[in-house]
Amino acid sequence: MADQSTERSSRTGSAPVLVASNRGPVSFTAGDDGSLTLRRGGGGLVSGLSAIDDPSAVWVCAALGEADRTAARQAPDGRLDLAGHEVGGQAVRMLDIDAGTFAQAYNGVANSTLWFVHHLLYDTPTAPSFGAEFRQEWASYRAYNAAFAEALAAEAAPGAAVLVQDYHLSLVPDLLRALRPDLRIGHFSHTPWAPPDYYRMLPDDIAEAVLTGILGADRAGFLTRRWAAAFADCCEAVLGAEVDRHALTVTHAGRTTHLGVHALGADADFLRERSHRPDVAQRLAALRAAVGDRQTIVRVDRTELSKNIVRGLLAYRHLLRTRPQWLGKVVHVAFAYPSRTDLAEYRAYTAAVERIAREITEEFATDDWQPMILHVNDDFPRSLAAYRLADVALVNPIRDGMNLVAKEVPVVSDAGCALVLSREAGACAELAEDAITVNPYDVIATAEALHAGLTMPAEERAERTKRLAAAATALPPQQWFLDQLNALG
Ligand code: G6P
Repeated sequence: MADQSTERSSRTGSAPVLVASNRGPVSFTAGDDGSLTLRRGGGGLVSGLSAIDDPSAVWVCAALGEADRTAARQAPDGRLDLAGHEVGGQAVRMLDIDAGTFAQAYNGVANSTLWFVHHLLYDTPTAPSFGAEFRQEWASYRAYNAAFAEALAAEAAPGAAVLVQDYHLSLVPDLLRALRPDLRIGHFSHTPWAPPDYYRMLPDDIAEAVLTGILGADRAGFLTRRWAAAFADCCEAVLGAEVDRHALTVTHAGRTTHLGVHALGADADFLRERSHRPDVAQRLAALRAAVGDRQTIVRVDRTELSKNIVRGLLAYRHLLRTRPQWLGKVVHVAFAYPSRTDLAEYRAYTAAVERIAREITEEFATDDWQPMILHVNDDFPRSLAAYRLADVALVNPIRDGMNLVAKEVPVVSDAGCALVLSREAGACAELAEDAITVNPYDVIATAEALHAGLTMPAEERAERTKRLAAAATALPPQQWFLDQLNALG
């Protein structure tokens, strides 16, 4: 692999700007006849990169399924043919990583280990337990990171800027620096970062490898100061690195890495335009008909353990049990769309969400009132319709890097919406003043916050929503991306 990439780098290393992420801006599905259909992904990174609109930029990502792998194999030079598709100017190189290696890296290490560590998700009497199976997964994670580093080294022009994304690719900066010391390398964590005591659950050599992997970058970016500080604390505790908390630098093994804080904001222009299209209006009318003139408490999440959907439902149940004035007067609209369904924990979590929602309906529903509307499939225009309709938005994650729903609802809301927000969401750093903040573990306090939201006067809701929307859009994705690029020099 290394020989091949050296050969290729002398032939095709021409990209001045590169992005690397596990999930790319496009994905493929295969039809019965084997034909491939391309789908464009959404998200901050896709709109962020559109800011540079440079056709010689390259986005390196992994093939996530069989259809992606077929597309990657058919691509000349590994670059997808995107002619005729609106996917921004850049070229996309999709890596055809062996399916078994990919599954161990993505499911075993990235999602079942690093994600759990950073979101504090372990049920510690039984997990984690790092044995022989985990060591194999770790070897795959290394191989998968090495494949990215080699592809980036092959595509990058001399002195190019490379922006590596997230916990899937924590080893890439260091591996890439070894191959191409001329590059300017940034890494960005879209998740929280664990505090040292929790982080040190990882086997010592792996705890070190993840930190030194990221420290291979010139800049390590985070969504909030809190996560940047936790990273610095881990570098100090685990590596004995020298940390300057004022200048936000970490020095280890003779190199200094700068820590950056870039609070990704909502894309106001996109959201406002998209949420007024006919497909959203149609879903809004259907929701309005189902809800009647009652108030709504809305939540929209991926069905993700860190989102705390179960405690949110328990809080709603507590509200109905303890404040009968809301019986027949409120509907909880909860959209929990599928995520990482290969993992048993995620499937069990979805089942728990459905069970508790059913229990709430059984306990309270009357002939003319359904207290819950739950959907566990994905429908983006329906989510936007719910944002427009919401009287109260419930965003109560156990821990979250940022949480863009908390930023999107105030931008899209028609009449103003009270925001019940977990103090453990990164977004809370910017939105706390006009949100009703909660301890996500405290079900009774969350129920009280819902009550406060429901009773907030309409005028106050509208005023707060205006201020929340302004704070939420302070750093749109394009600027967020350019700031990081410029900071690399
Ligand atoms: C969320 C997190 C990101 C992460 C992404 C991966 O959006 O905030 O940090 O990269 O999930 O999700 P996936 O569906 O690709 O596993």
